[in-house]
Amino acid sequence: MNILILGGGGREHALAWAVLQNPKCDKLIVAPGNAGIAQIAECAVLDILDAEAVLSFAGDNLIDFVIVGPEAPLAAGVSDVLRKAGFTVFGPSQAAAELEASKRFTKEICDAANAPTAGYAHFTEAEPARAYIRENGAPIVVKADGLAAGKGVIVAMDETTALAAIDDMFGGTFGAAGAEVVIEEFMDGEEASLFVLSDGETILPIGTAQDHKRIGEGDMGLNTGGMGAYSPAPVLTDAITQQALDEILRPTMAEMARRGMPYQGVLYAGLMIQDDRARLVEYNVRFGDPECQVLMMRLGAQAMDLMQAAAEGRLAEARVNWADDHAMTVVLSAAGYPGDYAKGEVIGGLEDLTEDSSHMMFHAGTERAEGAYVSNGGRVLNATARAATLQEARDRAYALADQVDWPGSYVRRDIGWRAL
Ligand code: AMP
Ligand code: GLY
Repeated sequence: MNILILGGGGREHALAWAVLQNPKCDKLIVAPGNAGIAQIAECAVLDILDAEAVLSFAGDNLIDFVIVGPEAPLAAGVSDVLRKAGFTVFGPSQAAAELEASKRFTKEICDAANAPTAGYAHFTEAEPARAYIRENGAPIVVKADGLAAGKGVIVAMDETTALAAIDDMFGGTFGAAGAEVVIEEFMDGEEASLFVLSDGETILPIGTAQDHKRIGEGDMGLNTGGMGAYSPAPVLTDAITQQALDEILRPTMAEMARRGMPYQGVLYAGLMIQDDRARLVEYNVRFGDPECQVLMMRLGAQAMDLMQAAAEGRLAEARVNWADDHAMTVVLSAAGYPGDYAKGEVIGGLEDLTEDSSHMMFHAGTERAEGAYVSNGGRVLNATARAATLQEARDRAYALADQVDWPGSYVRRDIGWRAL
């Protein structure tokens, strides 16, 4: 099969790495890819938000299967255009992608599905939103309705912060994403993520993970896209996973189908766990980044078969071959991220790494310049490893990270602290 992956981060490097292990893959193109992906696959220049451009590229290159990595092309309807033209696509329709693109939509689905989540109210004007905050008090959570690159959520521990967030959002800080605001009850507990594949009817759990969103050790400091992750997440016990599937994921999928927008692709449920019960924090309509890196390392070649089964409506006959293993990924970011940081810094040592099925340096933001790898983003590399125990996976991941010669990098040293 000829396969096209859309995206160019660490998530897509991990997807490409797993897909290439499957003998079904004859040819792999990643658009736009990055310098790490270019080591293993063909990278193509393509505007992945332009559905017609993607469609003609897929036709020209005799693509059989398209895997969509990030949410933006899904929200832009790229999968619909491809599917309509007869391509097999892994990724939900534009309508179903609303589960990530609109917080209000997700809340409505949860209400209809009776899925446990935070209580909420929805506002299109600032004054009633302020009144609601004053009435309910802090802690309280203020969210821009639309896609805001992970920055549209303010967890306000006091009323002043919550009111300031309302001013920001209706003042245009988040553009159109903030024109509508959801205000939520603050949920206490431990967060973890559950990943399921869905073909519209059947759902198949493919793993749990825990991300580390704050920049600083001990989960302090600013929010980031994620500084490291591991899988499985022990806080999601079998019993809690089952409860989440029964009370949250399956009813959500049933409600989506009932509304004529069956969900097909990967659904990433961010869960808050307290008192042995999970409540939904948010849905994402894609793999997490960097959570995908640990899931792919654990699933390996079968990831491709599972994604294909989801895309072709055959999940009922699919099985995950579980290994009793653990994986961890540690992000190397540019110092200063998520604030201002330098780009174009030379990164040494990447050519000399020993990589295999249990050790991989996935590239998130790198490019080649004058024969060297240079940094080209905030989150730049993902040192990823697998082992029989989490402690061993962690030792391997940090050993891999420490082989990189990049003085301008920053690495959180406590990934996995909750589980270890
Ligand atoms: P979201 O983009 O909705 O996942 O929100 C980003 C982060 O904000 C989540 O990963 C949580 O850490 C936090 N968060 C969101 N909603 C809530 C809530 N209702 N209670 C507590 N924390 C929340
Ligand atoms: N790592 C968090 C996310 O992908 O949304």
